Amino acid sequence: MKTYRFDSFDSLDDLRQRDEPAPRPQRGEVLVRVCAVSLNFRDLAMLRGRYPRACRPGLIPLSDAAGEIVELGEGVQSFKVGDRVMGAFHPRWFGGEMPSTILADSYGAESDGWLTELKAVSQEALVAVPDGISYDEAATLPCAGVTAWTALTGSTPIRAGHSVLVLGSGGVSIFALQLARAVGATVVATTSSADKIQRLKDLGASEVVNYADDPQWGKAVRGLTGGRGVDRVVEVGGPGTIAQSLRAVALGGEIASIGFLSTENPGIDFFQLKGSGASFRNIAVGDRNALIELSRVIAMAGIKPVIDRIFDFVSAREAFAHLESGAHLGKVVIRGPGVL
Ligand SMILES: NC(=O)c1ccc[n+]([C@@H]2O[C@H](COP(=O)([O-])OP(=O)(O)OC[C@H]3O[C@@H](n4cnc5c(N)ncnc54)[C@H](OP(=O)(O)O)[C@@H]3O)[C@@H](O)[C@H]2O)c1
Repeated sequence: MKTYRFDSFDSLDDLRQRDEPAPRPQRGEVLVRVCAVSLNFRDLAMLRGRYPRACRPGLIPLSDAAGEIVELGEGVQSFKVGDRVMGAFHPRWFGGEMPSTILADSYGAESDGWLTELKAVSQEALVAVPDGISYDEAATLPCAGVTAWTALTGSTPIRAGHSVLVLGSGGVSIFALQLARAVGATVVATTSSADKIQRLKDLGASEVVNYADDPQWGKAVRGLTGGRGVDRVVEVGGPGTIAQSLRAVALGGEIASIGFLSTENPGIDFFQLKGSGASFRNIAVGDRNALIELSRVIAMAGIKPVIDRIFDFVSAREAFAHLESGAHLGKVVIRGPGVL
């Protein structure tokens, strides 16, 4: 079978395609023919030494995939051959408290991921793809979609009349925009790209602030809410954006702390944090149940995941380079080998 591995994390050239024997599903496992995978910032962060944990070289990258079951191991009862499935981001976090196995399971960092033709995987690590969702779309849900869902539905769920701030136009932020709009919340978005402003409005953002033009964008966002601030910040920027996010959030609102896109790290002012009156919730994507809930919502609400570009399997390196360019809005997808 065709597969990719990062032989080391020195450059994109270290992502090499090779032919390997096809895996056989063991007891409780199924064999999935991968139809589509999607990229996340973490896949780049590993390559650029910006991932917050050590990563093992030599592994198959990427955490998010959808495909068709082509073979069953012994004792599999959850699925049959021909079923359409997607992989859960955390293969052994089914619900409840986060398990201690979470780091060891990390696709692409500690265990083989999904940028491959065939993958043998536990039936428990998969979720059925609802009708009406394509393989390309399903492959965007496990990390970016579930993270946005967790950010909006955890603690106090965002509902009609609430306001949400999304930062930039990457995968997590665009899902958060779409999901927040689906429940009737108001969304303010930021971007560094003048070209993306109208596209963010077309997706439902009521206001868009250019954070590259206005370093005090948090104040600007607060002004757009009549001085009250937003109920939730979907915080993907991290160390370089948290100070402005704290200016943008309402008293009693919440910063859903997700990402670390920014490269600068000026530190957090304790009194600003305390004085914001907001709570700070750390997010680690979400459990398998969240993926099941999200996929139902996507199907029932008719939300179309925003796919910026789809690459062939042979063009995987170009897909990584496209994500790194920041030119995308939404998700970048790679099709499985031979999938048209
Ligand atoms: N903790 C978790 O559970 C979790 C889960 C998923 C993702 N994450 C993290 O969340 C972040 C976003 O992931 P992603 O996959 O959605 O990323 P992505 O698709 O690669 O997002 C890239 C976009 O983010 C925007 N951006 C870049 N630097 C920014 C900055 N300093 N301030 C504001 N926006 C900025 C840019 O949008 P414009 O071009 O519009 O400016 C850029 O195009 C990453 O740090 C990722 O590792 C964490």
